[in-house]
Amino acid sequence: MNYRHAYHAGNHADVLKHAVLAKVIERLAAKDKPFGVLDAHAGAGAYDLQSEAASKTGEWLGGIGLMQEAFSSQVEAVLAPYRRVIAGLNPAGGNRFYPGSPDIALQLLRSIDRLVANELHPEEADTLRMNYHGEKRLFITQLDALAAVKQQLPFKERRGLVLIDPPYEVKDEAAKVCRLLAEAVRRFETGVVMIWYPITTEDFVDGLVTGIAGLGIGNLLCAELRVKNTHEQSGLSGSGLIIRNPPFGLEEDLQILLPALAQRLGIEGLGRAKQEWLTPKKG
Ligand SMILES: C[S@@+](CC[C@H](N)C(=O)[O-])C[C@H]1O[C@@H](n2cnc3c(N)ncnc32)[C@H](O)[C@@H]1O
Repeated sequence: MNYRHAYHAGNHADVLKHAVLAKVIERLAAKDKPFGVLDAHAGAGAYDLQSEAASKTGEWLGGIGLMQEAFSSQVEAVLAPYRRVIAGLNPAGGNRFYPGSPDIALQLLRSIDRLVANELHPEEADTLRMNYHGEKRLFITQLDALAAVKQQLPFKERRGLVLIDPPYEVKDEAAKVCRLLAEAVRRFETGVVMIWYPITTEDFVDGLVTGIAGLGIGNLLCAELRVKNTHEQSGLSGSGLIIRNPPFGLEEDLQILLPALAQRLGIEGLGRAKQEWLTPKKG
């Protein structure tokens, strides 16, 4: 396990993932009843963009670094919970501190909701514990993601979200993601599940998406944001999200958000967005 999210925090893929995550949580919180969030690959929780790691890659400059200027009011309405979380971490303004998924969840959950943050890497898990010491709505586990899904689902609240966000550093990660989704849906049929994936090569994306579509799981919405063309050497040219049981209104949110992000984050005009139902929408 070599992956450290600090090198990538705030990049274009994080902007997509976190803006949508914040909106999903906001929509879940719009109903009175409590809900749970299982962050199956939680990371450290929050990142300093002036750290050595973040400065070394400078990836955030092509992500959150380009988000300062306001979009149209329609786009800003979709981005509002994401903007609030960043402002919450940076009370004096700016974006030096960047939220990971656990921070986004904790800032947007109400007192009746709860977060289970699972992180396998011992140092990242320790940082997570240190960052949120005393936070009563948070329970931290240090398991393989599949074991965490088996241990934590279904939620007693019967509502909630599972985030699947692995580093994709091992070859069989796509197969593991399929297993995680199948297990999460088997245990928590009504839950929202959000999977993040990198767009590196078209072969990788085709393999992953075809594998997920072939699981026989309905109501899967897929959203992709590309910032440049994809070829073998181009590295991360974009990323995608597959969302099972997207909350009411999210499809419309994405229709507003994705083209705006493609235009803003695209490199030399090559930004593109795509949204489609991977498996049939539940009526
Ligand atoms: C992409 S990062 C997570 C970023 C985080 N979700 C966010 O959005 O801020 C992936 C994390 O998964 C952890 N990880 C790797 N293999 C894992 C496994 N089998 N089970 C749980 N976590 C794992 C890594 O240590 C890393 O911190």
